[in-house]
Amino acid sequence: METAYRAIPIADNIYWVGVVDWALRNFHGYTTHRGSTYNAYLIVADKVVLIDTVKKPFKDEMLSRIASVIEPTKIDYIISNHAEMDHSGALPEVIEIVKPEKVFASTMGVKNLKGQLHIDTEIIAVKDGEELDIGGKRLRFFETRMLHWPDSMFTYVVENKVLFSQDAFGMHYATISIFADECPRAVVEHELITYYANILLPYSKLVENLLNRLEREGLEVRVIAPDHGPIFRRPEDVKWVLDMYKRMSKQKPTNRAVVVYDTMWGSTDKMARAIADGLASEGTEVALLPISGCHRSDVATEALKSGALLVGSPTINNNMFPSVADVLTYLKGLRPQNLIGAAFGSYGWSGEAVKQVEEILKSMGVEVVDTLRVQWVPDEEKLKECFNLGVRVAQRLKEISS
Ligand code: FEO
Repeated sequence: METAYRAIPIADNIYWVGVVDWALRNFHGYTTHRGSTYNAYLIVADKVVLIDTVKKPFKDEMLSRIASVIEPTKIDYIISNHAEMDHSGALPEVIEIVKPEKVFASTMGVKNLKGQLHIDTEIIAVKDGEELDIGGKRLRFFETRMLHWPDSMFTYVVENKVLFSQDAFGMHYATISIFADECPRAVVEHELITYYANILLPYSKLVENLLNRLEREGLEVRVIAPDHGPIFRRPEDVKWVLDMYKRMSKQKPTNRAVVVYDTMWGSTDKMARAIADGLASEGTEVALLPISGCHRSDVATEALKSGALLVGSPTINNNMFPSVADVLTYLKGLRPQNLIGAAFGSYGWSGEAVKQVEEILKSMGVEVVDTLRVQWVPDEEKLKECFNLGVRVAQRLKEISS
């Protein structure tokens, strides 16, 4: 049918029918500089199957893409790989329009969809490893609980070796080119790391277990089709993204440090600069992140790429700066592993912030190499101490990252 929006074939009788959200800049506290996509997929076999839907306001665009292949009312089954609203928001209305014969989700998916959408439609729970014959193709389900919600699962098309991986291997990246090989690799890599750091990082052990399981079962994957961002369809790209996930899930320390700080009258900023120089003097790659110029999600991305996290805060009203507390609260929830670090900051008369930062870093499991407080504005001698702190962290980093 002639429609405003078109489906894009990704494998034999399998189509991308998602939408591009060019305007998205905030995804529950994560800054999405490049927007996003909500990927839904259509499989045409004896049964017509829709994998996931899209965010509620984009329902019509998705239905238009589906209609370019087949009348949406011909959809027999809907499979929900992930219950979060960006993939299920349109589901109640789509069910209303399509009237599918069956709707499937994981056991937890059934509960989560019911709890969020308040729909009467029966949702059938599928088990881990179960296969669904859709006539000409078989769909196999993999429970991927807590990657990153309790309901998360993958669906694998046995005949085409296409893995619908919901949020995993995804990224917030709005692009007209839906294939990774048509996008600039540097952007794909950056957004993949950013997504992992901000969404999947706390579940890294589960990611590792899942990758081991796929390997153990010898699952051959030709196409990885996530729920956000580009699709990986070339063997080298499938391998690349699996290797990236393997590496990120292990969080091995690199010889790279991130120095994140806020400043009141410029003194903690001076300290951060001197510390960065000290780190660099030992050959450590440094990312200097003044909080006033970045977002907490950028800090998470840099922390994932680094082996050291150095945090600076002035003291205000006997506390650390609220902006520093915001970043640390966010980072702590993401549970980064294998980091060393330091706490530093200037103060006028009470100076509690450095101790508070140190305690939070320790509660995150960060090995705190050193701390440094400077009263008022650091002079040349104090800046030399900052430089030396950078040197000590860099030397320790070399030991653990070599
Ligand atoms: Fe893309 Fe967890 O939702």
